[in-house]
Amino acid sequence: MKKVLVTGGLGFIGSHTVVELQNEGFEVVIIDDLSNSSIDVLNGIVSITNQKPIFEKLDLKDKSSVELFFRKHNDIAGVIHFAANKAVGESVNKPLLYYENNLNTLIYLLNEILGLETSSFIFSSSCTVYGQADEMPITENAPIKPAESPYGNTKQIGEEIIRDTCKVNLDLNAIALRYFNPIGAHASSKIGELPIGVPQNLVPYITQTAAGLRSYLSVFGDDYPTPDGTCIRDYIHVVDLAKAHVFALQRLMNGRQDSNFETFNIGTGVGSSVLEVIKSFERVSGKSLNYKMTARREGDIVSAYADTKKANSILGWKSQLTLDDAMLSAWNWEKHIRNL
Ligand code: UD1
Repeated sequence: MKKVLVTGGLGFIGSHTVVELQNEGFEVVIIDDLSNSSIDVLNGIVSITNQKPIFEKLDLKDKSSVELFFRKHNDIAGVIHFAANKAVGESVNKPLLYYENNLNTLIYLLNEILGLETSSFIFSSSCTVYGQADEMPITENAPIKPAESPYGNTKQIGEEIIRDTCKVNLDLNAIALRYFNPIGAHASSKIGELPIGVPQNLVPYITQTAAGLRSYLSVFGDDYPTPDGTCIRDYIHVVDLAKAHVFALQRLMNGRQDSNFETFNIGTGVGSSVLEVIKSFERVSGKSLNYKMTARREGDIVSAYADTKKANSILGWKSQLTLDDAMLSAWNWEKHIRNL
C-alpha cells in the first residue's frame, strides 16, 4: 500500500480527496492544523470508507515539526498539498499572513520531499492564475495575468517555486491542478464544505439562505456582457475534483509525465451563470430562493470556464457529475448539518 501525505486533509477538497485515495487503495496520512477545519471531519471520512487515516495535528509553518514529521514518515510515496489560507478578501487586508502561510509551508514541504526516495507532488492551484482570460474556454497556455489579490499571487508564485525546483531536481515530479469553482459535497452527506462565518462563495450562500441562516442572496451584478447579465463560472463537483488528484498521483507514480512539472485545468468545460446556478438549486431542492440583484462585487471577472482537453486526453480524467448533482449534494449536506 503506497503512503500518501495529504496536507489540509480535513478541509473541503482535502477530505473528499482522502476518501477517493482510500477508495483506490492508498494509505493516507493527514496533516491539518485545524485552523479552518474540524476534527469531526475525520469521523465523516471513516464512516464513508471504513478506514482510519493517520492524523497528525501539525502546523506546517513550524519548520522543525515538518522535519520531524518526515523523519517519522520516511516512506511517503506522494504528497498532495492543500493546506493554505484561501479567503480572497482577507488576503488583501493581511498580505504578509498569506505570503508567509502559503509560501513558507510550500518551501518547507518541498525541502523535505527532495530528501525522499520517491517524490510525487501535487499542488492545489487555481484558475485565478488566469485572471480575466482573453479567450474562452481557457487553455493551460493562456497567459498568467497579474494577480488580483495576495491569495491569487500565492498560487502564481507557488507554481513558480515548484517549476524552478523541478528544473534543477529532475527526480522531483510535480503537477499543479488549476481548479475552477469547486462546489457540492459527498453523496453520503458525511463530509462537505464548512464555511466559517458568512460564506463568500456563491453555493454555500445559496444553501444557507435556503436553510434560513441568511435572509436573501445578493446576485452581484446583472449588467455583465453575458446572455442573462450575470457572471459565468465553471462549477466543478468536489467529488470529480477529488478524483482528478488520484489520476494525477497515478500519472506521477507510474512515470507517465511528459515533463517533471505539468499543469492541468480541472473544470467541467461548461460555463454557468449565477442565475443558472440559482435555477439548478431551485430545481433539485424544490424550494424557491430569495434573491435580489445588487451591485457588482469588486474584483469579479465576467467569465471563466475551462478548456478540459488536456486533462481529458493526457490525464485521462473527465468530470462525470452535473451542476444539478452538485447542487443537490450541497443542499443535502446543508440540511444534514442544520438538522433540517
Ligand atoms: C472565488 C475566488 C477564487 C477561488 C474560488 C473558489 C475571488 C475573486 N476568487 O472565485 O480565487 O478559487 O472562489 O473558492 O474571490 N456571487 C454572487 N453572490 C454571492 C457570492 C457570489 O452573486 O453572494 C457570484 C460572484 O459574483 C461570481 C459567482 O457568484 O460571479 C461565483 O462567486 P464565488 O463563489 O465567490 O467564486 P469566484 O469569485 O469565482
